[in-house]
Amino acid sequence: MMKLIIFGPPSAGKGTQAQMLSKKYGIPQVATGDLLRDAVAKQTPLGIKIKSYLDTGKLGPDDLIVQLIKDRTSKPDCKNGYLLDGFPRTMGQAVELDKMTSVDLVLNIVVDMEALVERAVGRRICPKCAAVYHIKFNLPKKAGVCDKCGASLIQRDDDKEETVRKRLKVYTEQTAPLIEHFKKKGNLVDIDGSKGIDGVFDQMVKAIDRLKK
Ligand code: AP5
Repeated sequence: MMKLIIFGPPSAGKGTQAQMLSKKYGIPQVATGDLLRDAVAKQTPLGIKIKSYLDTGKLGPDDLIVQLIKDRTSKPDCKNGYLLDGFPRTMGQAVELDKMTSVDLVLNIVVDMEALVERAVGRRICPKCAAVYHIKFNLPKKAGVCDKCGASLIQRDDDKEETVRKRLKVYTEQTAPLIEHFKKKGNLVDIDGSKGIDGVFDQMVKAIDRLKK
């Protein structure tokens, strides 16, 4: 049983690392952003409510997000643990998570702000399987095509520079304060996110494997 949080600002590499860790440790990635984008694409009642938040880079209401996490983590594939990616993001969500369960480790990816903008603006995603690529740092084998499922890659609507800067501001104001909360609980590890994808992954694996000893 292992419960982890992959924490960090927009486009720090949380999703990229969560997908790699999920494969290595056999526990699912629970990514609020992916779940919300899926709800928007399928035009579910949640998707219809949440669309304007995603488009403008604002955080969705805590009650909707907490319910989404409760529903997802109660699925059978989460029985041996999970990797939370993009949750919690407000103090209210952190308090609700503490009521739900205890987390073994928070992997906090630290990256310089301008590097984050470049990572977000150059990101391309697969709308079918949520695989993540970058036009400079993580190219697919065939331009514009997902290596994993062959679908055409797209740019996220919220990856336009103006929206990215707004998301970074929201992170600084509402999400970064959670670092102190995790520090007090004693389960936060800083990860140097300026390294390449494999260099970041190695640091995370070392931190997780220390936990298992
Ligand atoms: P969400 O999808 O969670 O967006 P985010 O936190 O802004 O994170 P990103 O998905 O942008 O980035 P990432 O850190 O996963 O980076 P990635 O691996 O893709 O949320 C979207 C929206 O949903 C929010 O704005 C909000 O509206 C709503 N929402 C979600 N959760 C919520 C919550 N809890 N409460 C309320 N609302 C919520 O990598 C980025 C790029 O960089 C990729 O192109 C990748 O290939 C590249 N890259 C990755 N690692 C490296 C590296 N080491 N070096 C170079 N390039 C790299």
